Amino acid sequence: MSSSHFTFSIYILTFALFLQTIFGASPLFHFCSSSENFTTNDPYESNLKKLLGNLYYQTPLLGFGLGSVGSYPYQTNGLALCRGDVETTDCKTCVNEASNKIHKLCPYSKGAIIWYDNCLVKYLNKDFFGQIDNQNKFYMWNLRNVSDPTTFNEKTRKLLSLLAKEASVTPKLYAVGELELGESKKLYVGPMH
Ligand SMILES: *[C@@H]1O[C@H](CO)[C@@H](O)[C@H](O)[C@H]1NC(C)=O
Ligand SMILES: *[C@@H]1O[C@H](CO)[C@@H](O)[C@H](O)[C@H]1NC(C)=O
Repeated sequence: MSSSHFTFSIYILTFALFLQTIFGASPLFHFCSSSENFTTNDPYESNLKKLLGNLYYQTPLLGFGLGSVGSYPYQTNGLALCRGDVETTDCKTCVNEASNKIHKLCPYSKGAIIWYDNCLVKYLNKDFFGQIDNQNKFYMWNLRNVSDPTTFNEKTRKLLSLLAKEASVTPKLYAVGELELGESKKLYVGPMH
């Protein structure tokens, strides 16, 4: 690479980082629940605003926040979660960004969920605490293919079950790990929560 190309690349990279700082990270995925909507000036709206404010203050302390605001039929329940290795300030930034973004993406939904690299925020007009959410899911994949899928899948499964065990006994329910794949390749897995 010539030095002018290199300098140019550095400019692009710096500019990209600058934009990221100004506009924040992009969400990975989101869902708006379409089953129930609220209208402008609905008490649900002010409860939701209060809930998101509470989560913003609560979440960075432990990496996890949970709460309900209001009473039926205007009650809203929410949670926010930061990845286990995310610093307090980045957690705070992410929860703030997620709350603003989900409000723009699902302005009248009584339920919504949004994922970022660093955090997730979810709210619903029903109590969902302590329940496994099998409804809201998405996946992302590496575009490159593995040369030996059988070995790869076997080792991935082994590592995942090991990490699940490990994560279950840590305070943040979080674990990362890596495994030798042979041919000087490594498999990295993380984060789990
Ligand atoms: C709620 O709003 C969304 C988006 O505007 C719409 O697609 C959906 O049908 C609405 N749901 C109800 C129950 O009105
Ligand atoms: C990976 O494998 C799929 C299915 O065989 C193929 O369609 C795709 O082009 C491959 N991707 C790469 C990056 O080699």
